[in-house]
Amino acid sequence: MHTVPAVIYPTVYLDGAFMPAERATISPFDRGFLVADGIFETVYATRGVPIQLQRHLDRLARAAVYLRLRGVPDAETLAGVLRGLLVENGIADPESGPEVALRLTISRGVEIGGPPTVVAFARRLTAGHLSKRTVGVDGFVLPYSRAASGHDLTHHKTLAYLASSLGQVVLAETTSDPRAEGFFVDDDGHLLEGASSNLFLVEGGRVVTPPISAGILPGTSRAEVLVLAAAIGLETAEEPITRARLAAADEAFITSSTLRVAPLVSLDGVTVGGGVRGPVAERLQVAFQAEIDDEVARWYAG
Ligand SMILES: Cc1ncc(COP(=O)(O)O)c(C=O)c1O
Repeated sequence: MHTVPAVIYPTVYLDGAFMPAERATISPFDRGFLVADGIFETVYATRGVPIQLQRHLDRLARAAVYLRLRGVPDAETLAGVLRGLLVENGIADPESGPEVALRLTISRGVEIGGPPTVVAFARRLTAGHLSKRTVGVDGFVLPYSRAASGHDLTHHKTLAYLASSLGQVVLAETTSDPRAEGFFVDDDGHLLEGASSNLFLVEGGRVVTPPISAGILPGTSRAEVLVLAAAIGLETAEEPITRARLAAADEAFITSSTLRVAPLVSLDGVTVGGGVRGPVAERLQVAFQAEIDDEVARWYAG
C-alpha cells in the first residue's frame, strides 16, 4: 500500500485491471522507472467523455513507433481504458461528469521485447488551474530547453520530461505565483513552448505559433486551435517568436489539453497583451467549447 495524492481518483488501471490506487504497484525494474523508457498522454475529459481522443491516440501511436515499443494495446482498447476510468470512478455522468485529466502511461516494462506496463489514472482539475482560462498565466523563461537534446525526441511525449519537471520545481522555488508557466527558448532566444503548453500570439488578427520543426511537442490543442482559428476566418501562421515580438503582440495565449486556451498575460514580469484575456483568445475559447459540446453529443449519439 502506498500514499495516493489527494487529487487522484481512487480507482486506477494497471495492466489489464481496474484496482484501488493504493494497491497499484509496478516493478522496481520497470524501464519506465529506471531509464524513462516509455510514453504518455494527458487527456482532458468532461461529462464522461475523453476529449480530442483521436488526436491523443494518434500522437501516442507515433511515439510508440518512434520508441519501437512492442505490445502496446490498440487504440480501441486504450479508449476503453480511459472511458473505464471515468465509469469506475463514478465521474461519467453525461450531465454532471466533472472536468478531469486522464493520464495514460506506457513503459517498455521490465525487459526489452517483453510486455509493456500500462498505467492510467484520473486526476481532479483544481479551481485554481481552471481559473487560468480567464485570469491567464504568467510566463517565466526557463534556463534550459526540451530542444537542447537536438533530436526528434522533443516531438514525442516520452517519459524523459526532465526539462518540464525541473522547470516546475524551479518555479515552485522561485515564485509564489500560482499561475506561473515556464517557457523554453532555443539557443537563438526564440520562445518555443511552455513546460506543458504551446505558445500563440496575435498580431493584427493574425494567429502565430512556432513551427513543430523548432523542436516542440505537436500539441493536440495547438492543432485544434489552428483549425478553429481558420474556421472563424483568422489567418494562421507557423513562425518563430522572439521576446520582442511577443512583447509587441496584441495578445498572446497558451494551449493545452486541460486548459484549451489560456491567455498569457506576462513574461518575466513584463505585461503581455495588456495583461488581460484578449478578444481572439476569447473567441477561440468559445469555438473550442462548441467543439467539445459537439464531441460530447457525438459520443453519446454513438
Ligand atoms: C512540452 C509540452 N508542450 C505542449 C503541450 C500541450 O499539448 P496538448 O495540447 O496535447 O496538451 C504539452 C502538454 O502537456 C507539453 O508537455
